[in-house]
Amino acid sequence: MSREVPDANYEFIVVANRLPVDRVTNSDGSPGWRRSPGGLVTALEPIMASSTGAWVGWHGATNEHLEAFDKDDIHMVPVALSDEDLELYYEGFSNSTLWPLYHDVIVPPEYHRTWWDNYKTVNQRFADAVLEVAAPNATVWVHDYQLQLVPKMLRLARPDLRIGFFNHIPFPATGLFAQLPWRKQILEGLAGADLVGFQREADSANFVRCLRRYTDYSVKGHEATPDENYALKNVCRAAAHPISINTSQVAELSRDPEIQERAKQIRAGLGNPKTVMLGVDRLDYTKGIRHRLKAYGELLNDKSLQAGEVCLIQVASPSRENVERYIQLRNQVELMVGQITGQHDTLSHTTLRYLHHSYPMREMIAMYLAADVLLVTSLRDGMNLVAKEYVAAHENGQGVLVLSEFTGAADQLTQAVLVNPHDIDGMKQKIVQAVTMPAADQARRMRRMFRHLQENDVVGWSQRFLEELSSINHPVSP
Ligand code: G6P
Repeated sequence: MSREVPDANYEFIVVANRLPVDRVTNSDGSPGWRRSPGGLVTALEPIMASSTGAWVGWHGATNEHLEAFDKDDIHMVPVALSDEDLELYYEGFSNSTLWPLYHDVIVPPEYHRTWWDNYKTVNQRFADAVLEVAAPNATVWVHDYQLQLVPKMLRLARPDLRIGFFNHIPFPATGLFAQLPWRKQILEGLAGADLVGFQREADSANFVRCLRRYTDYSVKGHEATPDENYALKNVCRAAAHPISINTSQVAELSRDPEIQERAKQIRAGLGNPKTVMLGVDRLDYTKGIRHRLKAYGELLNDKSLQAGEVCLIQVASPSRENVERYIQLRNQVELMVGQITGQHDTLSHTTLRYLHHSYPMREMIAMYLAADVLLVTSLRDGMNLVAKEYVAAHENGQGVLVLSEFTGAADQLTQAVLVNPHDIDGMKQKIVQAVTMPAADQARRMRRMFRHLQENDVVGWSQRFLEELSSINHPVSP
């Protein structure tokens, strides 16, 4: 569907590292696009359709220049990345410098000047793509750690734009952020936005402290004002806007008889154990998968859980597979999986079903329904939407959420069984508590969390962020 919008006339523009579409082959063999599932695009769809909306992002392949195209009321503007960009900007600076630094240096971040140079180049390419399509006074919403320089780049070129930024991952404490050789440039990049949103109050406070300490901005409360000689004039406000999910869609799918039947099949396929536990993560070292498996293995060893009665399904979807730390993690996890299953499985029972795949939404909901307990044991996690989806699939009040204190979700899902994943003994006790929790206790906790998600879904999240962005007094003069 084409809407005949002249190129430079989009009033609402989302910029993210990835476009919200996957390549598919149509039934006639021609290439096409399918909307990838994801909260962000669902949340923004109404705004995209009602104003003239564009989405600027990478299409997922390297060395390929693609023309802009329209898909489901969204004008898609693909940004090309070369093999070198993939290595330096994506795998390097984004995922081997920023990702570990922002997740509390769970693994040591690497600092390389060649990566930084390419990060700047690629950020400028994203900013240029926005400038090509932005109408006068357009609103531009920039997303996540891959694009932190884009707000300032846009502001310098076009002071008329209203610019928001949302950081989907944590923002580290000053003492850790201080390591970054380019800390000032990153902070100034972000401060080009009128509003910078974070998952938690703590992230927002860390950002404000870093601005005060490492830039010439003067900071008052949540607002930072540039020095009068500085090239940018806008005041930058920081605020917490915890992201959520499409609660009603997940709840509706959980009522679908076909999906409910599939959940039964999943349990039957595991030999109908008394208790099914579930972990769903990208295979990432921030997710605490090794800590979880350690606790689970010990619970089987010391017979707190009986091998014939319990099964853990661990979905670990492939992620960033060329990055060394992810290769190492996969080897470590797969060794542990082999040790647990080798020791505890029998010909008729498996204690652990490890799945290195990703699954469509309907299959995920069936797994949520099949699981008595969900284990979220991240060492650090911006939000963790899997925890929210599990709750939204349990409107019936059954099921127990075991949730790491180190997730953004723990600030909101306070009726979960909260755990410190570094404390293996403590986590083991909490897992046993979850497995043996009386139905009435389960229902009381689950219903409260479900209500919270009904009142705080992803559409509300984007509305609140954009309302705050538009309420900010916005100087147009350069
Ligand atoms: C996290 C990040 C996103 C990223 C996603 C998947 O959720 O916040 O920005 O898109 O992981 O990672 P990938 O590297 O495959 O895009």
